[in-house]
Amino acid sequence: ERVITRISENPGRVAICLTGGSSPRHLYQLLATEAYRSRIPWKRVHWFIGDERFVLAGDPLNNMNVARSSFLNQFAPAANIHPILTSTADPADPDRSAALYESELKSLYGADALDPARPLFDLVLMGVGPDGHTASLFPGYPAIGKTARWVVGVPEAHVAPFVPRVTLTLPTLGSCREMLFEVAGADKRAILTRVLDGENLPAGRARSTGETIWLVDQAALPENFRGR
Ligand code: 6PG
Repeated sequence: ERVITRISENPGRVAICLTGGSSPRHLYQLLATEAYRSRIPWKRVHWFIGDERFVLAGDPLNNMNVARSSFLNQFAPAANIHPILTSTADPADPDRSAALYESELKSLYGADALDPARPLFDLVLMGVGPDGHTASLFPGYPAIGKTARWVVGVPEAHVAPFVPRVTLTLPTLGSCREMLFEVAGADKRAILTRVLDGENLPAGRARSTGETIWLVDQAALPENFRGR
């Protein structure tokens, strides 16, 4: 419902930044159902990805491939799907791929610098990994501190799959009307407790210039959360 609401609030070109991992899969499947797809003005909604695993476009581990096969390929015009390319001339070069995506985002945005009054995205979906990473921004990695770049290559991942990544940086992800974290399941409880305790972790540092929302199910919620 939040995705649909954000779309309906913008009468012009809508930009949604999707995420990878298992958390958004159910959402992607729901968007393909009649109840939701009939409410999406597909011609004017553009779909981006917040981070990508450096595997080929058709690989089951490719984040955009998951979104494509769950709903985008069926309903979104091909020109509205904006993947991070992982099959550039040199397939082992996530930096080159990051530079290409950065130029694509800048040209769609129409400027080289992000203006807080004019967010890049309407909605940015996010997840949190077991080490507190979000997108492919891992704790202690230099990519975290990069504020001048919109998109960066990450040579090594902290968690499986251990392939290089390409990721939007915190200011780029944060340039949105809404950043929406989806966190579910008991195995997320430990890391969510650390993030909510204010530990310096990428997921806790990620903030929207607009609203930042954490949607958490009961199983993932830290004990005594309401009592804090
Ligand atoms: C990725 C994701 C990543 C993900 C978290 C949570 O490429 O893996 O974009 O940041 O959101 O790791 O993953 P799960 O939803 O699988 O727990």
